[in-house]
Amino acid sequence: MGKKAEKKPLSPALLARLLRVNQAGEYGAKRIYAGQLQGLRWRGADAQTLRQIEQMAAQEETHLAAFSQLIAANQVRPTALQPVWHVAGFALGLATALLGNKAAMACTVAVEEVIDRHYAAQAELLEKTPAKAAPQLKAVIDQFRREENDHRETALEAGAEQTPLYGVLRHAIKAGAKAAIWLAERV
Ligand SMILES: [Fe+2]
Ligand SMILES: [Fe+2]
Repeated sequence: MGKKAEKKPLSPALLARLLRVNQAGEYGAKRIYAGQLQGLRWRGADAQTLRQIEQMAAQEETHLAAFSQLIAANQVRPTALQPVWHVAGFALGLATALLGNKAAMACTVAVEEVIDRHYAAQAELLEKTPAKAAPQLKAVIDQFRREENDHRETALEAGAEQTPLYGVLRHAIKAGAKAAIWLAERV
């Protein structure tokens, strides 16, 4: 009884906010990998690195498609900042890939660390709601979170931490990703 009383309903406003930020984030992820692939190809990166990034990019496409479908189904307005994520995501991916394969991987580590916390917080929130849509949405978030963690693991195994100034780069990108989430939840 006491436990049930603590549950908060998932309001349409909250659902809209969750879906909007996730769709924006997955869109940004898609653009980061697009920029990375461009930069890596310019640099003539090895086939294995390209394949790894392509596989992660393909998963981001799946994530984006799922949230795009969910925002349409729930009549949620997509982020107004899509043009910003379009350019900023690509620029981040391109810049890190031009620094080197390991810098590109460091970018993935940083972004995925932030996304992991973000999805974990949402999953925790949804755990507390009795709304009909929530179990399904939570399952989607849990699955995507696992896949984002796989991306981080892949990037770490590819030597992300050996990037010169890894700590600085990681912190800067994490700060940027957090700022992007803050904005995407509001605009
Ligand atoms: Fe994703
Ligand atoms: Fe990812």
